[in-house]
Amino acid sequence: MSKIAPTTFFQILLSIFALPLLILPLHGNSQSIDSEQTILLRLKRHWSNPPSINHWTPSPPNSNSSTHSNWPEITCSNGSVTGLSLIDKTITRSIPPFICDLKNLTTIDLQYNYIPGPFPTALYNCTKLEHLDLSQNLFVGCIPGDVDRLSTHLRTFNLSGNNFTCDIPAAIGRFPELTNLRLFLNLFNGSFPPEIGNLSRLEWLELSDNEFAPMVIPSTFTQLRKLKQLLIKGSSLIGEIPETIGNLAELEELDLSNNNLTGTIPSGLLLLKNLTIVYLYKNHLSGPIPQPIEALKMEEFDLSENNLTGTISDDFGTLTELSVLSLFSNQLSGEIPESISRLPSLRYLTLSSNNLSGTLSPDLGLYSILQGFEVAQNHFTGKVPEYLCANGGLIGIAAYDNNLSGELPNSLGNCSSLLIVRVNGNRLSGSISAGLWTSTNLTLLMLSDNSFTGQLPRTLAPSLIRLEISNNKFSGEISTGLSSWKHLTVFSASNNLFVGTIPQELTTLSELTTLLLDGNLFSGHLPSDIVSWMSLTTLNLSRNQLSGSIPAKLGSLLKLTDLDLSRNEFSGQIPTQIGLLKLTSLNLSSNCLTGKIPAEFENNFFNASFLNNTGLCASNPSLGLEICSSRFENSSKISSRLLAIIIGIATVLLASAMLFTFFLIKTCRKKGPESDSKWELTYYQKLNLSFKESDILSNLTENNVIGSGGSGKLPEDDIAEGQAELSAEAEQSATDNAVNACDRCYAQCDDAIDDVVAGGEDWWLYQTTGSRLGTTNTKVIAPLEDLRSHRPDYKMDDAMDETDRAVNAKRETHSNHAGIVRGGRTKKTN
Ligand SMILES: *[C@@H]1O[C@H](CO)[C@@H](O)[C@H](O)[C@H]1NC(C)=O
Ligand SMILES: *[C@@H]1O[C@H](CO)[C@@H](O)[C@H](O)[C@H]1NC(C)=O
Ligand SMILES: *[C@@H]1O[C@H](CO)[C@@H](O)[C@H](O)[C@H]1NC(C)=O
Ligand SMILES: *[C@@H]1O[C@H](CO)[C@@H](O)[C@H](O)[C@H]1NC(C)=O
Ligand SMILES: *[C@@H]1O[C@H](CO)[C@@H](O)[C@H](O)[C@H]1NC(C)=O
Ligand SMILES: *[C@@H]1O[C@H](CO)[C@@H](O)[C@H](O)[C@H]1NC(C)=O
Ligand SMILES: *[C@@H]1O[C@H](CO)[C@@H](O)[C@H](O)[C@H]1NC(C)=O
Ligand SMILES: *[C@@H]1O[C@H](CO)[C@@H](O)[C@H](O)[C@H]1NC(C)=O
Ligand SMILES: *[C@@H]1O[C@H](CO)[C@@H](O)[C@H](O)[C@H]1NC(C)=O
Ligand SMILES: *[C@@H]1O[C@H](CO)[C@@H](O)[C@H](O)[C@H]1NC(C)=O
Ligand SMILES: *[C@@H]1O[C@H](CO)[C@@H](O)[C@H](O)[C@H]1NC(C)=O
Ligand SMILES: *[C@@H]1O[C@H](CO)[C@@H](O)[C@H](O)[C@H]1NC(C)=O
Repeated sequence: MSKIAPTTFFQILLSIFALPLLILPLHGNSQSIDSEQTILLRLKRHWSNPPSINHWTPSPPNSNSSTHSNWPEITCSNGSVTGLSLIDKTITRSIPPFICDLKNLTTIDLQYNYIPGPFPTALYNCTKLEHLDLSQNLFVGCIPGDVDRLSTHLRTFNLSGNNFTCDIPAAIGRFPELTNLRLFLNLFNGSFPPEIGNLSRLEWLELSDNEFAPMVIPSTFTQLRKLKQLLIKGSSLIGEIPETIGNLAELEELDLSNNNLTGTIPSGLLLLKNLTIVYLYKNHLSGPIPQPIEALKMEEFDLSENNLTGTISDDFGTLTELSVLSLFSNQLSGEIPESISRLPSLRYLTLSSNNLSGTLSPDLGLYSILQGFEVAQNHFTGKVPEYLCANGGLIGIAAYDNNLSGELPNSLGNCSSLLIVRVNGNRLSGSISAGLWTSTNLTLLMLSDNSFTGQLPRTLAPSLIRLEISNNKFSGEISTGLSSWKHLTVFSASNNLFVGTIPQELTTLSELTTLLLDGNLFSGHLPSDIVSWMSLTTLNLSRNQLSGSIPAKLGSLLKLTDLDLSRNEFSGQIPTQIGLLKLTSLNLSSNCLTGKIPAEFENNFFNASFLNNTGLCASNPSLGLEICSSRFENSSKISSRLLAIIIGIATVLLASAMLFTFFLIKTCRKKGPESDSKWELTYYQKLNLSFKESDILSNLTENNVIGSGGSGKLPEDDIAEGQAELSAEAEQSATDNAVNACDRCYAQCDDAIDDVVAGGEDWWLYQTTGSRLGTTNTKVIAPLEDLRSHRPDYKMDDAMDETDRAVNAKRETHSNHAGIVRGGRTKKTN
């Protein structure tokens, strides 16, 4: 039979008709592909052909028409453009409305460009949009109140790092699919809406670093049961952390640092099983750290700079993942639980500035790669733990201002990772191991105010920037092999038992800003040739046995502001060059100096600078010196004949002067300065030309006047009594001043720290991208918070004293101006 089965016939019919049907949509599709390419090329033209997308070129006539699907910035699926990812392409123009002619777009990612103007409402027409990332551009103005006209499919929405202002509109709470909302680092200056709590799928919420009006955390936020990340740092939050925060069962990261939060820490918080990061530092939280702690996945826990009381719970010892425990600057008391010293992941233990006591477990450092150990400003007793560097990672120790005793562990001499050692202000003794003095990467070594003994080595750690060993019992000479000292900016060695001369090599240290060698047994002359002390601002050599003349070269150290040579045996005239210095404090008292003081010092500011030098005279009576009488009123009008006569007379006088001076010095040494001999003054009165009152006034430079802050260094009480003596109190105050020299000279510390920073040490730097430790590459100078927190790279923040804090406060301001923002998030610089 030739009967064709109806089904088969139908199939043939169908295939005949189906053929064009199949072709048509294909054709239609390639047309749409062509037109999509056309739109892309139009976009490129609209953006003025940025070189970064030069490879966006029309397909050659006979090629497959879908070449644009090979452009790396384009994602296609089902033959149509769905994703546009133009990150860091130097786009400087607005987003055109026709971008939404790419009807199937689900992803627009324009991070890190320079797109200006208001929020791009043109995107309301991109109806399939799921991911919109406009972060790190130059957008300004408000987020429009109808922002929910964006695709209802929106899942991620990132506007961070722009200049948006105003309130965040309530409409932001109307995206049913939204899982990821990031609005950090803008200039929002109003409020954020409680409606964010309606985003029931939200997992990541980041509002940090805005200038919101002071706001309480909306209680609606704790309805967000899927929330994993809640980051609202530095955003003027006030009030308490809602007790219901314990409902956020999925919470992994919480950062509410640097706000004005008060009250206690809700007990539910530390019961959340998935918590890994808790940053509540820099608030006004009080009360105890809640117990029990069941957040067994905790990695970083930072509650520093609050007002917390109570003890450190033994529960911390159960947190086997814990790598950062930072509780500094609170009012915690009691001991460090032994279990903490055996945590296997612990890298940073930061407990400074509390009321902690007891001894430090010898196990600290044995069970983990400890990097930062900070227990300063507590009441700890006993020894510095022996094995802090047992696993070779120790970067810094801050144990200053405790009651620690015994010797520094020898093992620190084998710890090449060390950058900072601060153990000043304890009762430590013994000598410093050769290995520590020369430790490869050591930049700050602060040993002051202990009872250390021994000598300074010839060679020091090559990276050393700051060496502070004042108020100890170090002895011997300062060696002359100083080339390894070349990066030193602060060398403070006051009140030790050093002997010998001040070696000329010391004057080769071109980066030195502060040199304090007062209160030692140095003798001999100062080097007359100062090689390169060009950075020196503070020089204190008082209370030694130095003699000879004051080198005129000191007058060429143009940065010198504080000079103290008091209580030595310097003799001869004060070189006139010294008068050129812009000094804020000067003390040459209690020496054997003679002659007229440089005219620049003829004002009351220096009225304690020259006491107890019987051979000095001045024109200004308030300086407490003999008055120099004047013979020649105006030197510039002296005729050359007269000059010749004067020179003749002067030569004769000079010869006798040398005899007299010799005699004078002998007298001074023998009789002491109390000797009342007047004749040598008469001699100088003859030789010196007097200064008129007006000259003196004009020499009262602004620098000298505003520098009066430095006068705290001078023994003012003595002046009042008109005495030439330095009282014991004044002596103590001079010592204190020397020890705390940097309090007066932030700039110097700043330099020192800049140098550390320039040294490229992670300790002082953090890296920008990641929010976690060690995930990153770019290095940036750390602002204050980052010196304090550990995000992403921890610094030895509280290892700093008040001075350093002030310096950092300054740095923070500066950094913010430079666009470097806390927490490792940075704004692209224009
Ligand atoms: C066209 O597309 C096909 C399949 O995708 C591919 O094999 C071929 O190499 C392409 N031709 C050109 C000229 O790109
Ligand atoms: C591709 O098309 C199919 C069928 O129309 C659809 O189910 C799928 O979601 C599409 N894929 C994308 C990524 O649009
Ligand atoms: C969008 O995708 C659908 C199916 O994936 C397709 O039919 C349509 O042609 C695409 N639209 C455009 C404008 O390319
Ligand atoms: C969306 O597209 C329509 C039609 O193309 C246009 O009239 C409208 O202005 C667009 N809306 C926006 C917000 O650009
Ligand atoms: C964004 O704000 C910063 C800081 O206020 C400002 O320096 C910058 O000029 C602003 N940029 C734009 C494009 O408004
Ligand atoms: C914006 O958010 C998206 C999604 O979370 C993220 O991938 C992107 O890195 C964020 N951009 C910035 C600059 O943080
Ligand atoms: C927010 O900032 C904008 C732009 O600087 C300003 O016009 C507005 O007055 C500010 N609003 C408040 C409440 O400070
Ligand atoms: C806390 O509040 C004080 C005054 O109310 C304000 O000066 C300070 O800037 C606030 N601090 C933060 C981090 O918001
Ligand atoms: C915590 O994390 C684990 C693993 O990521 C996950 O299975 C669990 O659902 C999360 N939530 C809670 C409440 O444990
Ligand atoms: C801590 O509390 C005291 C009084 O209880 C208060 O004076 C102090 O300012 C508080 N400190 C901080 C950082 O909140
Ligand atoms: C010393 O510092 C350098 C440069 O920062 C670093 O590469 C090196 O690893 C450090 N040495 C040790 C032993 O940590
Ligand atoms: C005065 O100076 C001499 C020499 O430096 C010193 O020995 C003496 O103690 C000083 N006198 C007073 C009262 O300071």
